[in-house]
Amino acid sequence: MNDSQLKAVLELEKTPLYIFDLSELSDRICFLRNHLPASVLICYAVKANPFLAQEVSGLVERLEICSPGEYRICQNLGLSQEQFVVSGVYKTPSLMHDMIARDDATGLFTVESLQQFFLLYEEAKSGHKRIPVLLRLTSGNQFGLDEPDAEKLIADYQHDVHLDIRGIQYFSGTQKTSLKRLERELEYLDSFLERLQTSYGYRAQELEFGPGFPVSYFQGEELAEPEFFKSFSALLTGMRFGGLITLEIGRSIAASCGYYLTRVVDTKINKGRNYAIVDGGIHQLVYFGQFMAMKRPHVRILSPSIRGSEEEWNIFGSLCTINDVLVKSLPLPGLHVGDTLVFENTGAYCMTEGISLFLSRDLPAVVLFQCNGTPLLVRGHISTAFLNAPDYERSNKK
Ligand SMILES: Cc1ncc(COP(=O)(O)O)c(C=O)c1O
Repeated sequence: MNDSQLKAVLELEKTPLYIFDLSELSDRICFLRNHLPASVLICYAVKANPFLAQEVSGLVERLEICSPGEYRICQNLGLSQEQFVVSGVYKTPSLMHDMIARDDATGLFTVESLQQFFLLYEEAKSGHKRIPVLLRLTSGNQFGLDEPDAEKLIADYQHDVHLDIRGIQYFSGTQKTSLKRLERELEYLDSFLERLQTSYGYRAQELEFGPGFPVSYFQGEELAEPEFFKSFSALLTGMRFGGLITLEIGRSIAASCGYYLTRVVDTKINKGRNYAIVDGGIHQLVYFGQFMAMKRPHVRILSPSIRGSEEEWNIFGSLCTINDVLVKSLPLPGLHVGDTLVFENTGAYCMTEGISLFLSRDLPAVVLFQCNGTPLLVRGHISTAFLNAPDYERSNKK
């Protein structure tokens, strides 16, 4: 977004705030589609940014949902359950019950443990339904099923009347820049799927794979994306598995459309160093791979006036901790109280992964910058104070 668009948003709402540019979002999904094999489906991981769920739902085939909260958000937006892939290590039994009992299509469920399998099995049975599931294969952590457990389920239940085991889901991590690693993972999945066929006569219809596509957040860490996607696409089309492939993507869809705006509220020189305090901080802005501002994100001053020579600034948020540093030694042509800093590429996770409750500060506002160029305020500044306060009236009532 350019400076005049950002300024138009500031007329609507004050900082700190997030802006998500919906034209950039749809351009980004087009870019991904144009650089991936045409047969591949896309599943948006809602956790990356729930504020985009409605817009993205019209642009991708599936939405991955990992918690009752994410489900509620998507349901309140009126999104179709048919699009949902319900995932996560803890699937709340009451929610599974409600979802499966509904009259409309149930959506797809992943299975991350034997207990989850039998929970879904019982719900499907009592709801007189056959529900589609994907067995999530572990990559060596708390997520997913171990290979022998997945194999046993396939051996025993592949023709089951309550659960339709469609195939395998696999996600091993995010920010994967190594094509070698992706190649190893796809080869592993190919071999596993082949083994299911030779050992159990089971032919998976689909594979849902989280590639963990990387996003470059910091200066000097730019990625040659077209080449990266070209090589990754060659790996996908070279797979022996011939069924449907869906890619679960969060970060790489949502990051580029996000802007975090925060205002300088104080400046000082302490022991010879320039400090600026902003009205936001690390409770509202988290970059994957950032630690104590060791790296420099893409940040600029909104409409800086000509101010003379550059000097280094340390940008700190308004929490009571020395950890609340957003950028260290940032060369800027002066910085003044009232200046607005624009942090780019902040559309995925940055807003939700922070320690929002620390110091009981308000949550930032959220604005969707619509394709017609008008900003839409979809969340105002919300106080968190009530969340950190005892409710004695409530305890007196008990
Ligand atoms: C199961 C699963 N799929 C997809 C994603 C999205 O990953 P990314 O944002 O790296 O694309 C995640 C993120 O944690 C995940 O847990």
